[in-house]
Amino acid sequence: MSKKKLYIETYGCQMNVVDSEVVVAILQKQDYDLTEDMAEADLVLVNTCSIRDNAEQKVFQRIKEFGRQKKKNENLVVGVIGCMAERLKEKLLEEDRWVDLVVGPDAYRELPGLLEEVESGQKGINTLLSLEETYADLSPVRLDQNHVSAFVAIMRGCDNFCSYCVVPFTRGRERSRDPYTIENEVRELFEKGYREVTLLGQNVNSYKWKTEESEVTVTFEALLERIANITPELRVRFATSHPKDISDGLLQTMAKFPNLCRSIHLPVQSGSTAVLKRMKRGYTREDYMNRVEAIRKYLPEATISTDIIAGFCGETEEEHKETLSLMKWTGFDFAYMFKYSERPDTLAAKKYKDDVPGDVKSKRLNEIISLQGALSLDSKKRDIGKTFEVLVEGTSKKSQKDLFGRTSQNKVVVFPGNGYGPGDYLEVKVNRCTSATLVGEAIRK
Ligand code: 5AD
Ligand code: SF4
Repeated sequence: MSKKKLYIETYGCQMNVVDSEVVVAILQKQDYDLTEDMAEADLVLVNTCSIRDNAEQKVFQRIKEFGRQKKKNENLVVGVIGCMAERLKEKLLEEDRWVDLVVGPDAYRELPGLLEEVESGQKGINTLLSLEETYADLSPVRLDQNHVSAFVAIMRGCDNFCSYCVVPFTRGRERSRDPYTIENEVRELFEKGYREVTLLGQNVNSYKWKTEESEVTVTFEALLERIANITPELRVRFATSHPKDISDGLLQTMAKFPNLCRSIHLPVQSGSTAVLKRMKRGYTREDYMNRVEAIRKYLPEATISTDIIAGFCGETEEEHKETLSLMKWTGFDFAYMFKYSERPDTLAAKKYKDDVPGDVKSKRLNEIISLQGALSLDSKKRDIGKTFEVLVEGTSKKSQKDLFGRTSQNKVVVFPGNGYGPGDYLEVKVNRCTSATLVGEAIRK
């Protein structure tokens, strides 16, 4: 009997990338083979994101496309998984008739049974959230292209309940994964040739593992030390840090290990203490500045990237200007920038009015984007003339002769190939830069 074919599309965050890899691992055991061609698929899955309304709209367009595919192949099974599945539940089955299967982020182990239900002519749905599920024992089937860099989930869910954020509702309570399984997964990746891992969680600083038998609690710092100690040949990154929880101790640990990468993603969201309070972020503008100063003290060569939301409920022009001034003060090296999008059921949706008009949100977002453009360019210009250790990831899209890789600071560098390839470490001298990349040449050590 020929194997069935699975086509999977992934939207949203890095955690969804890992979840898709877990789903493929589960379905490969059920005799599904992956295909990149939707036309030959027996099962189409779309792993979805609910973080902003436009993320959901994009997925609705794709679901329509899958409906058209189903007209061509009536045996095709269409499944929606991930955060939209969790948020919209039965509604997805009611409103989009061609959806057969709806599975939330904690129910992927149930996929085989649900697929059987679908095969017997029913619809399959499971959106139960769990307090324990971490898929710790499953080896994700890597879907990345370069085989150099992989994501490793160390925890799931979020307990912060920032007032704008849907994640605690779609991904459930925070829970940490057994450190032994994390360590084993990272070792296996290194043995397969991977040279960089990114440890993932919504708030990695609150990682905590304690078993009934053991007296010791494994904190995030302790976990990082264990992973860094596997081998100095493996780079380790992590995301996301929360400004209220990132400690001096963590920064000191990072300073001890050169393979813990010198780049910290520290979402600020707003530069105004009043807005941060309405967002329920748990820190003030000054607290954030204090954390930036600590990073500069312990890791002077580290880059700092961030997330910013423009036009949150009640944001005044003054408050928006405070975001711009904090951006300048910090000199962010990189940022993800968004317009506020109200999400149903969140505290902000219940308590505050989404009262910043659309055109004002756009204007503020444009100001933020244009300032960040200048800051990102400054950050790259500072690297000209310096030499960095670069981990090669692949050949440049623009020229087959050039390679590209990343510095520890997470900046992309393009340089002539000279016989090196993915997974190699090289010293590269930066000669110039564009707004997005550094351009350099490999030098001998
Ligand atoms: N509207 C706009 N941006 C949001 N984010 C989270 N929720 C919302 C929302 N409702 C942004 C935050 C977060 C990033 C992952 O997405 O900046 O850090
Ligand atoms: Fe959302 Fe805040 Fe949790 Fe991040 S920390 S996922 S912004 S609730």
